[in-house]
Amino acid sequence: MTRPEILIEIPKPDDFHIHLRQGAELQQYTHDVARSFRRVLAMPNTLPPLKTPEDLRDYRAQITKAAGVIGLFEEFTPLLTFKLGSDVPATSVAALKKAGAVAGKLYPQGATTNSEDGVQDLGEMYPLIEAMEAEDLVLCIHGEDPTAFSLNREAAFLPKVAQLVQDFPRLRIVMEHITTSDAVTALNSFPDRVGATITLHHLLNNLDDLIGGFLNPHLFCKPVLKAPNHQQALVAAVLQGHPKIFFGSDSAPHAVDQKECAVGCAGVYTAPVALPLLAEFFRAGDFLQGLEPFICHRGADFYGLPRAGSLASDPQVALVAEPWTVPARYGRVVSYAAGSTVPYRVETREVQK
Ligand code: NCD
Ligand code: ZN
Repeated sequence: MTRPEILIEIPKPDDFHIHLRQGAELQQYTHDVARSFRRVLAMPNTLPPLKTPEDLRDYRAQITKAAGVIGLFEEFTPLLTFKLGSDVPATSVAALKKAGAVAGKLYPQGATTNSEDGVQDLGEMYPLIEAMEAEDLVLCIHGEDPTAFSLNREAAFLPKVAQLVQDFPRLRIVMEHITTSDAVTALNSFPDRVGATITLHHLLNNLDDLIGGFLNPHLFCKPVLKAPNHQQALVAAVLQGHPKIFFGSDSAPHAVDQKECAVGCAGVYTAPVALPLLAEFFRAGDFLQGLEPFICHRGADFYGLPRAGSLASDPQVALVAEPWTVPARYGRVVSYAAGSTVPYRVETREVQK
């Protein structure tokens, strides 16, 4: 018997934007991502939201416990965020950092799932952001102006990002899940302390995949998929190894009845398939060597964390060339590419102790 070919073996990577939710489903969502990723930046738009040091301590304990169930107790590392709001005092920032926050997340009010308590007046957040700058916490931004036309929301918000970059000269900022050439252009004009994440689905899909034929609610997310020229700008940036762009899946699970219905929730669940499909994306783009920097190096460097693979004991993952069919359901959630065949299987390699 011949052994299946291995496309690539890399340190078990990072996902710098994920939704693990709160409560009963958290265990499943943690398992689904922990099979492929070692470290994740967990978003705070849970119900209830993550806003206090106690919230963060509880949340970390829940995630760690969930990871322990599949034997990844020591290895899986959740990085935490808190949600900016007028009820988060600037004086709590040091304690939030101590409780494990590496970033705070700014959601404009009404921009996306669970953002009804988001920020309406950016000026009101200035004392809090000042405290984050002083503590060297990263500001993660959902950069959409919800009052603009849906396809223009990201571009409409860019002047506000520029204002923040100018008003906080030492603040590190991540433009989350960028989707337009406008955002790439803006990113290029900003100093190196401003980075950006890109999702898998915004690299692989455009608006036609959502509404061009039959409606595909499982590709409905915020920011919404854009026109092909924008998709191509993202693809080009990633396949050129853009030094300020790293991976954040924005994997966002919603139960099937909340996606396949009249009032559908925004979010695409990519966690179970993100790593093999990213590998295939880089292979097809003839830039396989770009995979590891995108998911193991640049995000870690930006956040000032050790790179995946920097210790001999860091786990490795191999992408084994064995096609598999994505299950119709992960629990109550329909994953990205459900039912289709993915060319690689993720195999975690033994950790040397
Ligand atoms: C995310 C969610 O469901 O929490 N949804 C989404 O469409 N991306 C929130 C977010 O990151 O915007
Ligand atoms: Zn998100």
